[in-house]
Amino acid sequence: MTSIERLQGTLEALGLTALEARLEGLLELAAKNEPSYADFLLEVLGAEVEARRQRYLKTRLQLAHLPYVKTFEQFDFSFQPSIDERQIRELRTLRFVHEASNVILLGPPGVGKTHLAVALAEAAIRAGQPAYFMTAHALVDDLGRAYREGRLDRRMKVYLAPKVLVVDEMGYLPLDELGATIFFQLVSARYERGSIILTSNKSYGDWGGIFGDPIIATAILDRLLHHSTTVNIRGESYRLKERRRAGLLPAREEEGRPGALSVAPASAAPKARRPRAALGSAPAGATESRF
Ligand SMILES: Nc1ncnc2c1ncn2[C@@H]1O[C@H](COP(=O)(O)OP(=O)(O)O)[C@@H](O)[C@H]1O
Ligand SMILES: [Mg+2]
Repeated sequence: MTSIERLQGTLEALGLTALEARLEGLLELAAKNEPSYADFLLEVLGAEVEARRQRYLKTRLQLAHLPYVKTFEQFDFSFQPSIDERQIRELRTLRFVHEASNVILLGPPGVGKTHLAVALAEAAIRAGQPAYFMTAHALVDDLGRAYREGRLDRRMKVYLAPKVLVVDEMGYLPLDELGATIFFQLVSARYERGSIILTSNKSYGDWGGIFGDPIIATAILDRLLHHSTTVNIRGESYRLKERRRAGLLPAREEEGRPGALSVAPASAAPKARRPRAALGSAPAGATESRF
């Protein structure tokens, strides 16, 4: 048995699979460049560390249940001038994850809310912070089923464990009373413990309609917004832009563009600018006592 073969056996026994695969190339390079012993060891072990990091990242990304992987680099900020890039730069530092603060992305369909939520989750995972993605509807459905089967507490842990929970598309469909209560429980349980990144096409003033009850909506908003950043996107759908480019829609009018093609931006609703205090605060226990 040659030294190389014995070495391969040893690397395999140690589970250093990436190194084993790259062994011959690394040895050839060392023979050519004659690095110091320390540099050689560093290079060899560094290759294994990098391979493990990539494997860890891949697994974490799969576990995160993202609908697709999109990054900030793939986002065209010039297409959405209403987005404050400074605010995005701050979010990209992931300080909000360390502070267990929330991010709420508001705006009409197609403006990039999910893209940015996914990009933030991807960045968090890259930084070693687990993330999990779910649409609001699927999440509430899942927890509602668990409640009916008497295993809500256990199931809730799935959504409490990750440092970052993305709740996508809040407000596309209204929640029933059980759904609203469950969502309130989730927000309360994550409050100051883990971040929620939430996307919605509804301005805060319209949240009463989502939850069917202004008191529970206020209680949810109160906890959600206490430590939070709201990114308001007012603009045209990126999907429409792509269809326009493909010639499927008429060209965009730059000035005085009629609103026919765009949904009213979330922030344009007069109620959205209402100060939070004006929503009133829920009497303590009024919602908690529902369960
Ligand atoms: N400014 C942008 N730059 C690049 N791609 C974008 C931009 N805005 C949206 N997209 C793309 O358009 C599609 C719709 O965006 P999405 O984030 O799903 O919209 P929303 O969640 O607001 O409805 C996605 O494929 C997304 O990657
Ligand atoms: Mg979306």
